[in-house]
Amino acid sequence: MTITLKSGADIDGMRTAGRLASEVLDMLTPHIVPGVTTLQLDKLAHDHMVNVQGGIPATLGYQPPGYTAYPASLCASVNHQVCHGIPNDRALKNGDIVNIDITVIKDGWHGDTSRMFIVGEGSIQAKRLCQITYEAMWKGIHKVKPGARLGDIGHVIQTYAEGAGFSIVREFCGHGIGRKFHEEPQVLHYGRPGTLEELVPGMIFTIEPMVNAGRREIRELGDGWTIVTKDRSLSAQWEHTVLVTETGYEVLTLSAGYPALPAFLQPAPALATS
Ligand code: MF3
Ligand code: CO
Ligand code: CO
Repeated sequence: MTITLKSGADIDGMRTAGRLASEVLDMLTPHIVPGVTTLQLDKLAHDHMVNVQGGIPATLGYQPPGYTAYPASLCASVNHQVCHGIPNDRALKNGDIVNIDITVIKDGWHGDTSRMFIVGEGSIQAKRLCQITYEAMWKGIHKVKPGARLGDIGHVIQTYAEGAGFSIVREFCGHGIGRKFHEEPQVLHYGRPGTLEELVPGMIFTIEPMVNAGRREIRELGDGWTIVTKDRSLSAQWEHTVLVTETGYEVLTLSAGYPALPAFLQPAPALATS
């Protein structure tokens, strides 16, 4: 397995791409209200990435082996949709939960991040699922430092989500990222401590747990992209792009509008370190 290590100018490029991706989500946030369609959000995001940021929406036309070209500039996964939801002309309604996943390419570098949004007033269960998933992602991020292993990340995420009575999707994982959208390593969101690749400074990868309120099984819709829970239970996901530093981690996908850190990371240290 070949994991590319980033240094100097590479990291600066990844910092910029990561911040831009997060800023697209900041821009979209006030628009995510009852009545808006995910296609409208897609257009807003596309135009912002291209015309304001001078970037490229990485998902538009993205075609991994065995897939059709992805037709949109963001992924919008609503309620029981797990990931890769294709924007459409159905209006979001009060109580929906939606994951918006943005990947911007800037100067050849990719920044990849997603957040959950609750449309209007969410149910107690929906809010809890989104919050636990957010905390699970941050618990995973907080394991990142030289000498730790990928299995440490997966383990803490799995333990936390399952401890809350939820399940972890196994078929999709985080990934190395850089000049390519998806590189090695795979970052599983389940596993055993002390196993898998050891982290070294300069690695950059995403952590993006998908957590289901019900069972972990999924299926793909006939559009060839959209993943849903088999039992139609709600699903949530959050994603950050993270750099392994000499002492810990730096989260690359932060911006002015980023939501507050979970309580267990308070008082917040500099966001950019261990
Ligand atoms: N952004 C997703 C990820 O986190 C990948 C989306 S690929 C697409 O890895 F084609 F579905 F957009
Ligand atoms: Co990703
Ligand atoms: Co993503």
